[in-house]
Amino acid sequence: MKKRYLVTAALPYANGPLHIGHLAGAYLPSDIYVRYLRLMGREVVFVCGSDEHGAAITVKARKEGTTPRAIVDKYHEMLKDTFEKIGISFDIYHRTSALIHHQTSQDFFRTLNANGEFVEETTEQYYDETVGQFLADRYIVGTCPVCANPDAYGDQCERCGSTLSPNDLIEPRSMLSGSAPVKRPTKHWFLRLDKHENWLREWINTGKVDGKTLHDPAAWKNHVLGQCNSWLDQGLQPRAMTRDLDWGVDVPPEIPGSEGKKLYVWLDAPIGYISATKQWAIDHNKNWEPYWKDEDTALIHFIGKDNIVFHCLIFPAILKAHGGFILPVNVPANQFLNLEGRKLSTSKNWAVWVHEYCAEFAGQEDVLRYNMVKKMPEQADSEFTWKGFQETNNNELVNNLANFVNRVMVLTHKYYDGLVPVVDTERAFKSGWEADKAGQYNEELALLHAKLNEMGAQVERFNFREALQLAMEISGAGNALLQFNEPWKTVKDDPETVKVVMNLAVQYVAVLSVALRPFLPFSAARLRSMLNLPALEEAGDLLDMLNELVEGNPVVQPRHTLGAPAHLFSRIPDEVIQAQIDKLKATEQAQASDEGATVNFTPVKDTIQFDDFAKIDIRTGTILSAEKVAKSKKLLKLSVDLGFETRTILSGIAEHFSPEEVVGKEVVVLANLAPRVMMGTESQGMILLAEDAEGKLGFVSPESGWQAGMSVG
Ligand code: MF3
Ligand code: ZN
Repeated sequence: MKKRYLVTAALPYANGPLHIGHLAGAYLPSDIYVRYLRLMGREVVFVCGSDEHGAAITVKARKEGTTPRAIVDKYHEMLKDTFEKIGISFDIYHRTSALIHHQTSQDFFRTLNANGEFVEETTEQYYDETVGQFLADRYIVGTCPVCANPDAYGDQCERCGSTLSPNDLIEPRSMLSGSAPVKRPTKHWFLRLDKHENWLREWINTGKVDGKTLHDPAAWKNHVLGQCNSWLDQGLQPRAMTRDLDWGVDVPPEIPGSEGKKLYVWLDAPIGYISATKQWAIDHNKNWEPYWKDEDTALIHFIGKDNIVFHCLIFPAILKAHGGFILPVNVPANQFLNLEGRKLSTSKNWAVWVHEYCAEFAGQEDVLRYNMVKKMPEQADSEFTWKGFQETNNNELVNNLANFVNRVMVLTHKYYDGLVPVVDTERAFKSGWEADKAGQYNEELALLHAKLNEMGAQVERFNFREALQLAMEISGAGNALLQFNEPWKTVKDDPETVKVVMNLAVQYVAVLSVALRPFLPFSAARLRSMLNLPALEEAGDLLDMLNELVEGNPVVQPRHTLGAPAHLFSRIPDEVIQAQIDKLKATEQAQASDEGATVNFTPVKDTIQFDDFAKIDIRTGTILSAEKVAKSKKLLKLSVDLGFETRTILSGIAEHFSPEEVVGKEVVVLANLAPRVMMGTESQGMILLAEDAEGKLGFVSPESGWQAGMSVG
């Protein structure tokens, strides 16, 4: 075990608000990890801050017709505030526009330069002649060579996720003017990453540098190792560490040729972790250096998967090239969280914004945190849905956790005036851990100890979903303890056993008040006050509790008086969820109408006379049942109520809708279409559907509750 920890969470660009993808990717896992370490009495500093440079910022400023400074000031405050509201417990939330950061990154540049880590090279870069500016990768758009997306950026294609360079783009155009850029020579400082390839490969795969083991690669996530190796396999090339920009950290002015040059944002941003630590040390009268230079420090970077190469290869190369700095012992990157079947997207406004959540669900911050952990994309991409959010809240937080706590509080007040009963620890009862298992007081404390240890081990391995699951099992066992022993039935006849059960149930709640703290800090605090126990300081509280439990000591002493029961979680009704879904749908529609101009509408068919139309018999109907047609990918066999009769209709919608989804749908049917046999079944009509430009199908439906069999015309 290392002596101290420095935990970093990726510096978010100060160009927009925080969404749930960011939260689940880097901030919540790092917060859980850090809170756990603090609860275990470890020395830890948790740093983050706004990433205020780079094209991400200048693009946004341009879009909003304002300055980069105005953009970063606005979003820095907003991000800081949102992190606080959702309970991310940074020791410092810094910013890269701070003077100390500019100085720190310039010093880095000087050292790298003096160490001969750069080659200065003049290359041809895209230049926009109409605005007289070299173009940052983000300012060049063109067709993706991989997926043919016509709007891929010079650094990345957002459709297929490929990492690109501007030269890869087919028919590049400038985002500033729309014109085709030209190539112009310009000088830049390139970091000789090729020189670092060999030790990086060894370090990533064996944990060794110069024969010394620095980490255990088996503790790294597979997808992280995989991405690193795929970069290494392609061979590392020198990479430009400067840019022609007017916003960013200046290349140190005494270096010849530095005029107009700024540090590449991916050089300065990770150094932001160091400058944040320096600022934290100044604020707290501490020394920052051991956190970055002492090998007894565990440096851990929490990031999303799009940042892997920068944190696992480029930044380590920079640290080593500089000299005197430690390397990360782990980079537990997460994959991506999707939202309701689509990729989260800031530019498309397809997101759940954390600040909006905090405003609309005030007091329910932990519900989002809980859901984010449940859905955390630890090893693979995952998905958030509002329905899932509701179910998780209602089934787990309300029915399991809140219900248990409430029963314990209410019953203890009812039976013992809120006083934790004195117990005969030898008395038998039914354990909550397994049906029909005889319980024993000290053994239950030992079981709690074991669960907490298991939970801690999972947190240390960055398996937060699993860890939360284990914590929730304590609540589940607590519920079962009450359920199996039914104190409400036996309190009169067997009061001594009920005392044991209730005393233990209080111990369970107390254990939860600590165990849940990393995941649900607000609820854990509420539990502490309900129990009338001191607020947690996150300074060894869990370690202390483990030490008591292992000795067979209860966590809450007999005769301790509990506080008043308070509200923990409540059911989230359908309307609230529907409102959120509607909000997303509105976004989708706004998007669609934005794009309306480019939609290709199918041309209107040749004119017909009214008589032609009058031949058509269209009716309202209701789908009664639906099943897949064997051996057909496309067909669903529907049974449709037309009021006067029931028809069998084969409809080519199986690739768009599941049978369950369509049952009960009110539809419109072409009722006098000549029957046709398909796949051995006669189809007696046709369901009318609308099709959009992308081939998505939607039912044409009468108002809901409309009677079947009515004519449409
Ligand atoms: N701002 C970057 C992003 O949002 C992350 C920077 S992480 C740091 O993708 F290491 F550079 F700080
Ligand atoms: Zn692409």
